[in-house]
Amino acid sequence: MPELVEPAVPAGRMGGRPQPCLSVDELTIRPWAPPDVPVLVAAYANEDIRRWHARSLTEDEAVEWVSQRTDRWRREAGADWAVAEGDTVLGRVGLRRLSLAEGLGEAAYWVLPAARGRAVAARALTAVTDWMFALGLNRMELAHSTLNRASCRAAEKAGYAYEGTMRGHSRHTDGYHDMHLHARLGADKPGAKGAAVRRA
Ligand SMILES: CC(C)(COP(=O)(O)OP(=O)(O)OC[C@H]1O[C@@H](n2cnc3c(N)ncnc32)[C@H](O)[C@@H]1OP(=O)(O)O)[C@@H](O)C(=O)NCCC(=O)NCCS
Repeated sequence: MPELVEPAVPAGRMGGRPQPCLSVDELTIRPWAPPDVPVLVAAYANEDIRRWHARSLTEDEAVEWVSQRTDRWRREAGADWAVAEGDTVLGRVGLRRLSLAEGLGEAAYWVLPAARGRAVAARALTAVTDWMFALGLNRMELAHSTLNRASCRAAEKAGYAYEGTMRGHSRHTDGYHDMHLHARLGADKPGAKGAAVRRA
């Protein structure tokens, strides 16, 4: 059945080029590589990261995860970057879902405990979001449990406006959580607050 709407971003525009390295302040935002496996295993052993991402990761799974990142980039199915300061990985930022045709991406992030409180997540997310908008994406969104206040703050600092609460939206290990939806549009002016909505 023919589509009546042209793809927002033509296929191949992202995956046909190498994944970029970005930098903001002291942070380098670069593709994951095999030497990052131990830090990934340590990250998913952290209580908060396990809780909010509802995943664990063995060494073998981390090796597989890193090799899948290149494939996801080439297939334009998602994107993942390590956020580092020099040789030290501080966190992760990425797109857990991506539709170039719809001009839509969904962000995800975590920061290792030792690097929290420095706005690492917000600064890395802003850099990646700006890159995706320059590529032609229309909208970037993210969702976090209403119980995850730190993630809400990171989203707000990255200019992702609160748009509403999705009831019983995401299954965590302790059951369904209500989730805040936040988003930025490529057309948003810097500092825009988005739609006027009441926080639940
Ligand atoms: C959510 C998370 C990514 C925020 O990253 P960050 O780079 O530390 O973010 P910020 O420095 O902007 O801090 C955000 C909030 O975390 C809290 N915070 C500050 N210092 C902190 C510390 N040392 N340790 C833990 N939380 C801290 C504060 O509430 C802060 O809000 P504030 O700036 O209004 O005081 C990080 O806490 C994390 O990885 N948590 C576990 C995984 C997770 O929740 N991922 C997101 C799933 S949606």
